[in-house]
Amino acid sequence: MTLPDGVERRDFGDESALATRGEPAYGEPVVDGWRRWDAHRSKLGATLELGVDTGLAGGDSVLYLGAANGTTVSHVADFAGPTYAVEFAPRPVRDLLDVAEARTNLFPLLKDARKPETYAHVVESELDAIVQDVATRGQADVALANRQFLADDGRFVGAVKARSEDVTRDPGDVFEDVLDRLRDGYEVLATERLEPYHEDHLAVVATPK
Ligand SMILES: C[S@@+](CC[C@H](N)C(=O)[O-])C[C@H]1O[C@@H](n2cnc3c(N)ncnc32)[C@H](O)[C@@H]1O
Repeated sequence: MTLPDGVERRDFGDESALATRGEPAYGEPVVDGWRRWDAHRSKLGATLELGVDTGLAGGDSVLYLGAANGTTVSHVADFAGPTYAVEFAPRPVRDLLDVAEARTNLFPLLKDARKPETYAHVVESELDAIVQDVATRGQADVALANRQFLADDGRFVGAVKARSEDVTRDPGDVFEDVLDRLRDGYEVLATERLEPYHEDHLAVVATPK
């Protein structure tokens, strides 16, 4: 399995699970300073758990789109470098601010990921990675709009939720359409369905083209 430096498999009682080192953020178990990263609660956690080669590395600069209350981005900030966390719903951002309090490299942004021009003055360019989990219609368009922040050899690591695009269509058909649109600006390197952790979600790893 290819894990970024700073993400390890650790024992929690009689189970082993992915973990990062940092301040607890959402009541997760912590053993010897290692916080359990629950793949059932995190699409990126599931992506890593399933052994997908994301290309993410310890110390990466990251733009995280769809941060919600910070469950996943708290783990990302534990292993990454500067981590910009975009979320447009004010309520979860309140929790995200608490998560960021304990992490000097995590920068919450109450912004709409479809409008990158509203945070382009804050987010550095030539980033190593975009991690996306927006669960909204137009997921490929969000990825394309934010491609400008990525270095030429940077990675896009996203989770596509089929039902956010169209509840009535077959998820496989929805994924094909999203991937086709994504190819307008990215080369797709890997895809993986996230079952059994997340129903009808597709992990996508891509690089700008
Ligand atoms: C599935 S949740 C994210 C969960 C989070 N990534 C985690 O694992 O901890 C999707 C989030 O994306 C946010 N979102 C959807 N569209 C967005 C947009 N255009 N800009 C910013 N956030 C958006 C939603 O408000 C929601 O909090």
